[in-house]
Amino acid sequence: MRLAYLTPFLLLACCLQSASAQVTSQDFDKIMLYTLKNSNGLTIKVTNYGAIITSILVPDRDGEMGDIALGYDSVEDYTNAVDKPYFGAVVGRYGNRIAEGKFTIDGEDYTLAVNNGPNHLHGGVIGFDKVVWDAKPVGDNSLELTYVAKDMEEGYPGNLKCKVTYTLTDDNELKIHYEATTDKTTPVNLTQHTYFNLKGEGNGTILDHELMLNAKKFTPVDEGLIPTGQLVDVAGTPFDFTTAKPIGRDIEEADEQLNFGGGYDHNWVLDKGGKDGEMTLAARVSEPSSGRVLEVFTTEPGVQFYCGNFLDGRLTGKAGKPYVYRGGLCLETQHFPDSPNQPNFPSTLLEPGEKYDTTTVFRFSTE
Ligand code: GLA
Repeated sequence: MRLAYLTPFLLLACCLQSASAQVTSQDFDKIMLYTLKNSNGLTIKVTNYGAIITSILVPDRDGEMGDIALGYDSVEDYTNAVDKPYFGAVVGRYGNRIAEGKFTIDGEDYTLAVNNGPNHLHGGVIGFDKVVWDAKPVGDNSLELTYVAKDMEEGYPGNLKCKVTYTLTDDNELKIHYEATTDKTTPVNLTQHTYFNLKGEGNGTILDHELMLNAKKFTPVDEGLIPTGQLVDVAGTPFDFTTAKPIGRDIEEADEQLNFGGGYDHNWVLDKGGKDGEMTLAARVSEPSSGRVLEVFTTEPGVQFYCGNFLDGRLTGKAGKPYVYRGGLCLETQHFPDSPNQPNFPSTLLEPGEKYDTTTVFRFSTE
């Protein structure tokens, strides 16, 4: 990648347009910024660097548009960001942690790059969030991004062909379709790492956002945030979001799991009602002052709810405002962390001849 060209996304290079929707793009060497816009004026910007969603413009209850996604307007800011926040990116080949970066497939031991204390996180040192994807607008409301991860890249077996398609519908839904195939058995767990703040990026914390998670159980972790392997009831704990509550309500309770996560940074086991692999509601977030609502639907069995515990005001976003402690929340739909080492978790192994195929939808509305 030619760093000289990692300059702010600017000039308009091409424009595909229809009456109801449009995809436009800006070109900087191989780094592009695409704009998806629907008939209601919702606007989502995506760069092929890391398949990152850089901005999500949606109305509040009075029709006032606001950008609810944390991020930057230059690629340099993404590459320079301290503490690797993964703002808006697609993470892979394996989203979240693999204990000590080790696993065994068919008697063969693999060792991955270790980048989070002793563990592997979000695909390693150069995960899918830090590579340049090929991008192609499809129709008038979709963007298709492809990336081929090489055999043994970051230590993973198999050439993995990945495709992520972002579609913005006129029903105010952002649909994210993940597909992949491999030529050797490999773990795959792709997710989207957008940080939302429904008051608008940079506008304080998300502790006042009300969250419902469609999950009666979560996967507790050790101090390195590796699951213990148990599925534990949330009832009677700060992890109970089965009925919507402000994120800040129980976050300071004395609780070992909250201590380990520095707040919420855990995987919830979605109630699929026997519909494994089918699209079900995972989460609903609402923000009282703006009236903005985000609902998340997914075919995945889990969701990592992370509430920005590692943000500390050092990163300044695209509008020049600092991203404060707990200034954004992520709802990373996924298979459970460390599944390659957890025989009781749903498998994340993809075999040659199989197709990895998952979908997550972010639906935006107001109340
Ligand atoms: C995920 C992890 C967190 C943290 C963030 C990025 O949500 O679970 O622990 O690494 O990504 O900062």
